Amino acid sequence: MNRRLGILISGRGSNLQSIIDAVASGRLDAVIAVVISNRPEAAGLARARAAGIETVYLNPREHSGRDAYDAALAGTLKARGVGLVCLAGFMRLIGPPLLDAFPNHILNIHPSLLPAFRGLEAQRQALEHGVRISGATVHLVTSELDDGPIVAQAGVPVEERDTADTLSARILKEEHRLYPEAIRIVLEGGWRIDGRRFVMPRKSEV
Ligand code: GRF
Repeated sequence: MNRRLGILISGRGSNLQSIIDAVASGRLDAVIAVVISNRPEAAGLARARAAGIETVYLNPREHSGRDAYDAALAGTLKARGVGLVCLAGFMRLIGPPLLDAFPNHILNIHPSLLPAFRGLEAQRQALEHGVRISGATVHLVTSELDDGPIVAQAGVPVEERDTADTLSARILKEEHRLYPEAIRIVLEGGWRIDGRRFVMPRKSEV
């Protein structure tokens, strides 16, 4: 399996940082080949630079539409030999030019237990719904928003006094543990997709 990662961000980049740290400590056997942002001010770009990782800012306005932009993303990733794309707070829908360039090899992390609370402000949605448990999900990306086979999930209790901020912080802590672990599982190989399911290999097949 090609262990070169391309990480796509739009903002803070704390999940990016957790992947950088997991690689640096040897917990994750991978190379971060490039970090790409659709926003020049994304704080995650500085985190990548501090770790000596190449960064690229791709301006959506310099492309004629979504397909052209996604083709530019795919080209930038392919040119660096990326094998697995990780969305880490990348605030754009992914379309066919990128999906087709990396079939079943684009991951996303979402701050809820999918399929509950897709889309924006998942933590607020969970609070407003009154669920007692929420969490984080890492899944393969398909053309549907926050859909696609689930690689890993972690549950988090919702406390009576939670605000969107306190719940987000509790979930984020789990995200930082979960994402590197899910990447490790995908890079390990031997898995297959069965309908909606991401099926892990038997121990003897790894
Ligand atoms: C995370 O909550 C992630 O689940 C969601 O966007 C947020 C990104 O945070 N997709 P960060 O930029 O990784 O700090």
